[in-house]
Amino acid sequence: MSEHTKKHLVTAALPYANGPLHIGHIAGAYLPADIYVRYLKSIGEDVAFICGSDEHGAAITLRAKKESTTPQAIVDKYHAINKNAFADFGIQFDKYSRTTQEIHKKTAQDFFKVLNDKGVFEKQTSEQFYDKENQQFLADRYIAGECPNCHYGNAYGDQCEKCGSTLNPLDLINPKSTISGNIPVLKETSHWYLPMQKDEDWLREWVENGILDGKVHHDSKLWRNQVIGQCKSWIDGGLQPRAMTRDLDWGVKVPVEGADGKVLYVWLDAPIGYISATKEWAEENGRNWEDYWKSENTELIHFIGKDNIVFHAIIFPIILKAHGDFVLPTNVPANEFLNLEGDKISTSRNWAVWLHEYLEDFPNRQDELRYVLTSIAPESKDSEFTWKDYQARVNNELVAILGNFVNRVAVLTHKYYEGEIPSADFSEEENEVLKQAKKLAVKSGDLIKQFKFREAQNTAMGIARIGNKYLADVEPWKLIKTDPEKVKVTMTLALELVSMLSETFRPFLPETSNRLNSLLNDRKTLAKPELLFQKIEDKDIEVQIEKLANSKIMNEPEPEKAGQLPAINFEDFTKLDIRVGTILEAKKVPKADKLLELLVYTGIDKRTVVSGIAKHYSAEEVIGKKVSILLNLEPRKIRGVESQGMILMAENAEGELSFVSPEKDVESGSAIS
Ligand code: 2FM
Ligand code: ZN
Repeated sequence: MSEHTKKHLVTAALPYANGPLHIGHIAGAYLPADIYVRYLKSIGEDVAFICGSDEHGAAITLRAKKESTTPQAIVDKYHAINKNAFADFGIQFDKYSRTTQEIHKKTAQDFFKVLNDKGVFEKQTSEQFYDKENQQFLADRYIAGECPNCHYGNAYGDQCEKCGSTLNPLDLINPKSTISGNIPVLKETSHWYLPMQKDEDWLREWVENGILDGKVHHDSKLWRNQVIGQCKSWIDGGLQPRAMTRDLDWGVKVPVEGADGKVLYVWLDAPIGYISATKEWAEENGRNWEDYWKSENTELIHFIGKDNIVFHAIIFPIILKAHGDFVLPTNVPANEFLNLEGDKISTSRNWAVWLHEYLEDFPNRQDELRYVLTSIAPESKDSEFTWKDYQARVNNELVAILGNFVNRVAVLTHKYYEGEIPSADFSEEENEVLKQAKKLAVKSGDLIKQFKFREAQNTAMGIARIGNKYLADVEPWKLIKTDPEKVKVTMTLALELVSMLSETFRPFLPETSNRLNSLLNDRKTLAKPELLFQKIEDKDIEVQIEKLANSKIMNEPEPEKAGQLPAINFEDFTKLDIRVGTILEAKKVPKADKLLELLVYTGIDKRTVVSGIAKHYSAEEVIGKKVSILLNLEPRKIRGVESQGMILMAENAEGELSFVSPEKDVESGSAIS
């Protein structure tokens, strides 16, 4: 069997089409997957790179409710946005599909039927929360209440976001429907369960040792520790039967009798999306999808974030095996989380760097972000993106090492040879340099194959380092008068290194690689040199840092629903010094469309407060208003202005803000208690 009968099916987690993508998504799954695929393709491997939008599940319906629209409108909107964002960052899927496609619904339903006919499921009746008023069962995400572990007031039915524990909605204290606020009742319902406890033995052997049915299935040394660790802890804790159907009206209908009002569990539906998208791709490209899913010569690799491990390394493999015929993943390279400026990335708190916004602020600089995100990829532990670090890596590495080398070579070639690419035989010195560089190129590829993308990229950069050192050692600019022959040899080698850089960096920095290729032109004459990378200036990142600071202000304290905050005692309350104040002056904060800078008379002093009300009030109309102000809030700098207190605002369900003002005319400084 030749090497090339081997096929690779590479998937990246289908993102929910309920919001735009941020750097955490890209760093977590899509960028490493893209690097891996580009590399395999560059060495001539047969690869299908599959992804698409996850368009079912409570995440979508919740978003639709929030925006008062339909789930279909939500997924249509974000599918388009996300598909474009991926393309803009050079994440080049062979197929980017959607789980609302007919072919997917059919594939998922057929899959379910096979499992059902084989008797894989167990039907069980249980009591689940039901919203009587809206006549619907409540998905786990539609229930919130007090966490039984940490007593956070607003934990979801499936998970507490504060302490991270996995929950069952029945465990919540004082559960409420997040849709209506109603107190749900318990009602009986039946579902199809996957009895996962039956699979513990083979799963353990497969995850820990890479053995399946007594044969070596994969090299478990290539699996990341956290993936094996998480799986082991699930298995050791005892797997539980898990319902594969839900009472919902948005999703793939359960294709058996007596299942009205039920859809497939989104975590059964979504991974089958990989199969249906492969079918579409195969159809469009004259391939046979089964070659990629049902052949022993296939390597199936799932790129995901760590919150998806159990679904890809336990539940989906159980399902694939139970169906029969399908291959199981050879690896599930899950990344840990990427944090941002000292805090967890959060969509709801707008604590994120959004891809589409990045490209608005840094047009055509997608490779810079790709480079930095790979340099700090959270491969073995959580890592952190900061704008200062971004600036430092771009300026000190891309500009100063890679860009500098290429630029020097291009400029000197034009200067000495009018752009004609020289060709000269190497001496021992050049052969040695070339050998070292080639070694790094090969090593970089090997590291990619081992899913060590950070190290692989750094190794590729080593070639530019070698090039810079070589030029600095030889100093052709000094030799050109005395030893032009040596300079010719030097420049021949330097240009060879540029060509090698173009190839080695191709998986990481595709656009840069294209530019290097254009520079090298027809390999006989060099195109006009242009700087490969521009420095990131302080002012560029200051804007970004301020943008984030702005999100922080707008989102603190985290909005919580009435009645869901934990109780405080009276003493806690008396710690707040809230008074009536009068706004004396107001002006807009430059470059911050939500902020007004206010001067407030508090009865004691005049103080400056920065307030996020500019979308609701103009500066002119607030002057003279009596407001409630919290005086003893720690001062903090907002957009360079020290804010000494906080104006209290009432916010209605539409998010409109209104001052909280005394009903009678009272003096500034009157205490509010
Ligand atoms: O966590 C998520 O964003 C899920 N939408 C990932 C699904 S991956 C797969 F199952 F399709
Ligand atoms: Zn908790």
